[in-house]
Amino acid sequence: MKIISSETMRDLDARTIANKRVASLELMERAGKQCSEQIELFCSQLAPHHKKRLIILCGPGNNGGDGFVIARYLTSKFEVKTYCTHKQDKLSPDAKTNSSKVSELCEFEASSQLLNKITEGDIIIDCLFGTGLNRALTGEYETLVNSINASQLPVISVDSPSGLLSDGQVPSAAIKATITLSIGLPKTSYFQNDGPAHVGSLINLDIGFSKDYITQAPSEGQAFFAQDAKKTLQSFTYNSHKYTRGQCLIIAGSELYNGAPIIAADSAAVSGAGMVILAHESLRTPQNPGIICLTKPPDIIKSHFFEKSQSVLIGPGIEINDKNKKLFTHLIKSDKALVIDASAIDLIADNKTLFPRNAPTIITPHAGELQRLAKGLNINHSDLSKAAQHIAQNLSIQVLLKGPQSKIYNEQGAFSYNTSGNWALSTAGSGDALAGIIASLWAKKDINYYEQAQLGCFIHGKSVDFYTGAKRSFTVDLFPSLISKVLHSLSP
Ligand code: ACO
Repeated sequence: MKIISSETMRDLDARTIANKRVASLELMERAGKQCSEQIELFCSQLAPHHKKRLIILCGPGNNGGDGFVIARYLTSKFEVKTYCTHKQDKLSPDAKTNSSKVSELCEFEASSQLLNKITEGDIIIDCLFGTGLNRALTGEYETLVNSINASQLPVISVDSPSGLLSDGQVPSAAIKATITLSIGLPKTSYFQNDGPAHVGSLINLDIGFSKDYITQAPSEGQAFFAQDAKKTLQSFTYNSHKYTRGQCLIIAGSELYNGAPIIAADSAAVSGAGMVILAHESLRTPQNPGIICLTKPPDIIKSHFFEKSQSVLIGPGIEINDKNKKLFTHLIKSDKALVIDASAIDLIADNKTLFPRNAPTIITPHAGELQRLAKGLNINHSDLSKAAQHIAQNLSIQVLLKGPQSKIYNEQGAFSYNTSGNWALSTAGSGDALAGIIASLWAKKDINYYEQAQLGCFIHGKSVDFYTGAKRSFTVDLFPSLISKVLHSLSP
C-alpha cells in the first residue's frame, strides 16, 4: 500500500469533499464507524479479566470529530467516557455537529480534569490531534500525554498518535500508541524519525476515497497492511494435494541449538506448505507429527527430499563447520528458492562470487547479522538501511531487515515496511518462526516471491498482535496456534 504525506492526505480529503464525491460529515461518519469496529475487535481480543472502560479524548478539530462518532457507536457496548479539551462552540464545524449527538455523554472544556480521569479507564482512545497538529504540544497537553504514556494503559490513536508531527518528529511529547488506526492511507510520519516508536501496530482503514485520487496521489514509499495480506494470501483449490501445496526443506539446528529447527518447522507446517521436511541434528521432535524429520541427515542434497522441495531454508541454529559450509555452497548453486537465516548469513561473504543466483533468495538478518555481512562484503554504510539496500541490489537477493519496523528490500533495492508486530517478537526463537513461515510460503513455483516474503513478515508480526496473554509471558511455542489464527483472519 502506498504511503503518502500528511499534506497529500489533507489534499485528498479536501478534493473529495470539494468535488462532492463524499460529504465531509459522511467521511467522518465512515472514519468513526470503522474505528469503532476496530476498537471493538481490540476489546474482544483482550483477556476476559481485562476491564474495558473506554476513555475517549477529543481535541478541537476533525480528529476530535472522529472521536465523537466513535463515542456514539460504542456507548451501547462499553462503559464509555468522552472528554473534549474545548468548549463545544470552539470546535471545528463537523466536530461540533457530531459532538451535539453525544453531548449528554461528553464533558467539554475538560483539560484540567483529564489527569485524574484517565486513571478511571482501562483503554484510552486518542482523538486529540490528527494531521492538523502543526506545533509541539505544550502545557496541559504535554503533561496529559506524558501521564497517558506513564499509565501504561493500552492506547488506540486515531490517524496519528497525538504529538507526532507530519515529518515524524516529536519535539516535546507524543502518545505511545498500542495501535494507530490510519485513515485513508498510511502517512510518512509513521515511518520516519520518532514515528516508529510511537505508532505501535498499524491498521489502515479504507473509508472510500476515490480510487483515481489514490492512484494520482504522490507516493512516499510502500507499506504492507492486512489489506495487502488478504490479496496476497494464496488459496488452495478443491483438488490440491500435498505436492501442489508445496514442499519445503528446512536444514537447521545443532547439538547446542536444537530448539530452533523445531520452531521453524512447526511454523512452516501451519503456514500452508503441503510437506515440511526437517533435516536436523537432534532427537527433539516438532509439535506437529506430520513433519518428516531426518535426524543426522546423510547427504541431504542428493536425496529425493531435496529434489522434490520447491524451497529450502537453511540457518536456524546451525553450526558453522566444514560440512555445513560445503552444503551451503551446494545450495547457492542449486535452483531452489532459498531462505537464508541466522548464522548461515555469515557464509554469504565467502560465496559472493556465486551471486546472483538463478533462483529467488531471501536473507533475514537482524541488525547485528546485517552489519557482519556488510563487513564481510566490504560494504561501508553507517546507515543500516542503506547497507541492506546495497546488498540486495549487489547480490540480487531480497533482504528482510528485522527490527521494530522490519523492512523488506527486493532485488532492485525497492523496499516496503512491515506494519504488524510488537515487542513480544523480541525473544529467542522468534526469527526461526519467521524464516519457517517464509520458507513455507515460498514452497511454490511461479509466485511473486517478494509479495510472499512481505506476507510472511506480516503474518509473523500479526501473530503476536493476536496474542492475548501478558506480553511479558509470550513464548515462541505459541507461534503455530497464533499463525493459524492470523491466517484465519486473512482468509475470505
Ligand atoms: N496544541 C494545541 N492545539 C493544536 C496544536 C498544538 N500543538 N496543533 C494543532 N492544534 C489545533 C489547531 O488549532 C487546529 O485547529 P485549527 O485548524 O483551527 O488551527 C487543530 O488542532 C487541528 O486538529 P486536527 O483534528 O488534528 O486537524 P483537522 O481538523 O485538520 O483534522 C483529520 C485532521 C482531517 C481528521 C486528519 O487526521 C486526516 O486527514 N485524517 C484522515 C482523513 C479523515 O479522517 N477523514 C475523516 C474526518 S472528516 C474530514 O476530514 C472532513
